[in-house]
Amino acid sequence: VKRQECEEKVLSHITPLREEREHIHSVADRIIGAVNTSGKAKGMIAGSVARDTWVRGDRDLDIFMLFDPSMSREALEEHGMGLARSIARRLSGAVVEKYAEHPYVNTEIEGLSVDLVPCYAVDNAARIQSAVDRTPFHTLFVREHIGDLASDVLLLKQFAKAGGIYGSDQMTGGFAGYLCELLVIWYGGFSQVIEAASSWRPGVVIDIRGHQSKEFEDPLVVVDPVDPRRNVAASLTLTRFAEFVEFAHGYREAPSMDFFFPPVQGVLDFECFKAALGERGTYLYAIVFSTPHTIPDIVVPQLRKSLAAIAGMLDRYGFTVSRSDCCMGEARCMLLFELLVDSLPALKRHMGPYIWNGSNADDFRDKYRNGTFSGPYIEDGRYWIDIQRKHTSAGELLGSDSPLKVSLGKHVMASMQRGFTLLSGPGCWTEGFESFVSGFIRKQSPLVRIKQKREEIG
Ligand code: CTP
Ligand code: MG
Repeated sequence: VKRQECEEKVLSHITPLREEREHIHSVADRIIGAVNTSGKAKGMIAGSVARDTWVRGDRDLDIFMLFDPSMSREALEEHGMGLARSIARRLSGAVVEKYAEHPYVNTEIEGLSVDLVPCYAVDNAARIQSAVDRTPFHTLFVREHIGDLASDVLLLKQFAKAGGIYGSDQMTGGFAGYLCELLVIWYGGFSQVIEAASSWRPGVVIDIRGHQSKEFEDPLVVVDPVDPRRNVAASLTLTRFAEFVEFAHGYREAPSMDFFFPPVQGVLDFECFKAALGERGTYLYAIVFSTPHTIPDIVVPQLRKSLAAIAGMLDRYGFTVSRSDCCMGEARCMLLFELLVDSLPALKRHMGPYIWNGSNADDFRDKYRNGTFSGPYIEDGRYWIDIQRKHTSAGELLGSDSPLKVSLGKHVMASMQRGFTLLSGPGCWTEGFESFVSGFIRKQSPLVRIKQKREEIG
């Protein structure tokens, strides 16, 4: 394969080392041995370790435990978790129970973060009973088709990481490892993916096996070769899709190491943050509350929903929102709003019914006969009044119980009802959220970040 010079150099940094490979496989063999000798399930390495597509230094090992598919779901959970716990205890001591679509165990063994995932040993991917059952088929498919393109997958993963678009978790909404593998297989290599992606527009459909079984609405559709009902890129957002297109385009124009090891964007210090806010002349507000105790992929969509609902409320009350974003920390979450308007005069114009609207018009006139600044008066056929505004300051609105009355997600609602803190202006700079608020006001696309740093360095 002909590669850019920088790609060779990148590979010399990210290709797993022989001792690393040996170590990870020796741990995997021990765990799989333990699964197999239990007689209850069959052990299998999954994920990038099974496909030789993990980036050097990654410490994740995915081990799947395949159980008899005739078992009930409850039995699978009970026996699967029992076996996972006992193996984890025996080999390491630490057991952390996790939950995705199913419960699984995470444990640390010799410096590796090991997931022990119970699933069904279905003999055909069409018989999948849950999402995790697909994974062994992914492994088989990739192993069979990856040929000598493992290094290309490494480059693509590292490229996506550098652009901040690697990972299919809800918060990132980016490219999963398996998606990178399929793209490399389909296009035939890293540079082929880059070339194709630099002219992608939403609506790209890749159907490796020619299933053509279902229409998807997502910006990128990669039909899962092992399960035509699923789009592997389903969690890729339009924004991350566009960032990838931009990044690929930029790389094609001027390939460099920066696209794999980007210059770090330092966090502003508090004084710079304060000064930047002053220059913008906007009003920043943050709502901070305890992170709900449930899995991140459930919390994150609720945060986004809450963010949109509260931003909508602010707009409705006349406090124009310029931009908003959310952040989920271990202990606390933040909803952040940047407003163009922070305080409004006492007067508010309020629209009434058309005057030929019978009893509604009468009721309106009677109700507002007194106590208005002006009106009821008629304009373009309907009643209007100038009345006292309920909230004249955004802070007062956000500090009231109004945010609890809009449609927040269930867990976010429960947490906010238990209490939230309202911060404003430079006060939004609070422990644990420094890099988030700093990134918020220095928002820029992955390519712009690289170009700007390059100019700074000269
Ligand atoms: N998987 C999936 N869809 C996702 C995430 C994971 O189908 N959105 C499956 C894939 O088969 C994947 C496996 O679960 O290979 C393990 O997931 P993960 O560890 O997140 O990805 P890896 O492929 O192992 O990539 P990485 O190198 O980042 O660990
Ligand atoms: Mg993995």
